[in-house]
Amino acid sequence: MEGVPIFRLFRGMLVLAIVTVLLYGAILFQRHSKDRMVVQYTSSNVHRRSEFIQNTSTNAKFVPPSCTRRTKLALAKVHKTGGTTLMQILHRFAYLRNLSLVIPIQTNRGSINAFYPGGLKKEKCLPPQGDHYDMFTYHFVYKRDVLTNLLGNGTFFVTILREPLSHLKSQFHFYDLAKRYKIKDTKYPLLRFLENPGAYDKKRPGYLGTRNPMSADLGMGLNVLKQLTEQAMKWQPGQPTNKTAMSIIENLILNIDQDFDLVMITEYFDEGLVMLKRLMCLDMQDILYYKTLAFLYKGKDQKVPTSSVENHKRWDIVDYHLYDYFNKSFWRRVDQIGKDFTDEATHFKELNLKVQQHCSVNDPRNNGALVIPESRWNPPFIVTHELCTLMKLGQMCYMTLLRDRNIRYNSKKGPESPSKTEVKEGVLYSKRYCALCDEISRDCTLNEYIAHLFFEKHISHFHTSFSPHKRTGRGQREVEFNDYS
Ligand SMILES: *[C@@H]1O[C@H](CO)[C@@H](O)[C@H](O)[C@H]1NC(C)=O
Ligand SMILES: *[C@@H]1O[C@H](CO)[C@@H](O)[C@H](O)[C@H]1NC(C)=O
Ligand SMILES: *[C@@H]1O[C@H](CO)[C@@H](O)[C@H](O)[C@H]1NC(C)=O
Ligand SMILES: *[C@@H]1O[C@H](CO)[C@@H](O)[C@H](O)[C@H]1NC(C)=O
Ligand SMILES: *[C@@H]1O[C@H](CO)[C@@H](O)[C@H](O)[C@H]1NC(C)=O
Repeated sequence: MEGVPIFRLFRGMLVLAIVTVLLYGAILFQRHSKDRMVVQYTSSNVHRRSEFIQNTSTNAKFVPPSCTRRTKLALAKVHKTGGTTLMQILHRFAYLRNLSLVIPIQTNRGSINAFYPGGLKKEKCLPPQGDHYDMFTYHFVYKRDVLTNLLGNGTFFVTILREPLSHLKSQFHFYDLAKRYKIKDTKYPLLRFLENPGAYDKKRPGYLGTRNPMSADLGMGLNVLKQLTEQAMKWQPGQPTNKTAMSIIENLILNIDQDFDLVMITEYFDEGLVMLKRLMCLDMQDILYYKTLAFLYKGKDQKVPTSSVENHKRWDIVDYHLYDYFNKSFWRRVDQIGKDFTDEATHFKELNLKVQQHCSVNDPRNNGALVIPESRWNPPFIVTHELCTLMKLGQMCYMTLLRDRNIRYNSKKGPESPSKTEVKEGVLYSKRYCALCDEISRDCTLNEYIAHLFFEKHISHFHTSFSPHKRTGRGQREVEFNDYS
């Protein structure tokens, strides 16, 4: 049987040849796909979630609103009120619609405070993307003229306020005020503080202070705010209220009311978003958000005795009146619209929950999409994997991508072309796709960046071999950079 070894040898060579060809092919394919990043995407990925469709569609036809979409907007971002979540929603809107944002030139990690409290000057901003700015979203001590000068007339002004005691709790937690105020040897530093706030807080009103911090962010005079608190603290039960002081407070609040198209209330965030959608004529997709407002409940269980609350109401007098006024006016507005509004808000909450659930499935195979059925307030639409990624995108990543887009746009015209040309991870981080490649690889996960390349139309779809939640080496954690939210 001499033929057998030869046959074996032949068979061995054949196997080797096949393996070689396959390997080579795989390498070629890999290169090819890395270069063009074309990805298999089949319609079977779009699976319907029928239970959901059945229950929310309630066979209602979409009624297109008779309004025109507005894109010019200024956010007065008040610290510790949920403004960051709102900013994220607005950044996504701006990103998807290629709007021109006011972006500070300063690039360090604190750049969200580049205009706070120092002020907003044109020289401190990147030039607009195009011939005008559309949107302002950074922290800034609110000043209407500065914003209208930059954005033009017809700008939509929005801000968001939080119930003052809940706001104080949040500040205490976030800025570690107990430590700043050196309140030791008590389990309840907040209660100790509220016994006599003036003994601890000597700061001027502002985001780190506890005396009318929201009013201060909205641009009310700091001396007036201080004075009003001082008078309120001197007031004794049984004395008549100081009418002069009350009318000063009233005027300050009426000025804000005149300036703003919408004052949202943190405690009714979803209702506020639905109002924003109606007033700005947005789509339902525009107001979906991923982040749960867990911060609302930080320390909410801490019971505060009535006497301490009364103290706080005097110490923080303007913020209390401010909140009360806008909470009332918000609900008055809701009442004026009536049942259609509350129905839409209920619908939105349910929808957003479904979308959050869909987007939180941390499974690389789940690159499918969720079909949202028609309702009275939205035509049918699809929540794609990419939209999920955008909903969850880190705030530093948005700021960096929007900055990158601005710089790429403006470098095409001006002489200052981006200097960063370092090539990383193959062709991904090359100047063909990014001006700020280093910053992007620091601030965005690989998956976020790939979604960006998709939205910029550099790739046709996700490369499925990238795991959705893999982070780059120096990638940012989701909760990072929240200091000034
Ligand atoms: C579906 O909607 C109806 C009426 O709106 C409600 O009573 C019911 O509980 C819902 N079912 C589910 C499974 O959510
Ligand atoms: C984005 O806006 C700029 C400036 O208006 C424009 O030149 C550019 O073509 C736009 N890009 C897309 C993808 O629409
Ligand atoms: C805004 O409108 C006012 C008065 O209608 C006008 O004087 C001003 O020039 C306008 N500003 C801009 C930036 O268009
Ligand atoms: C009442 O408030 C005004 C304005 O702040 C102040 O000038 C005045 O001294 C106050 N009066 C009393 C009795 O505190
Ligand atoms: C805000 O307004 C709502 C509706 O009127 C009311 O139920 C709620 O108690 C108000 N919140 C505060 C803190 O005043």
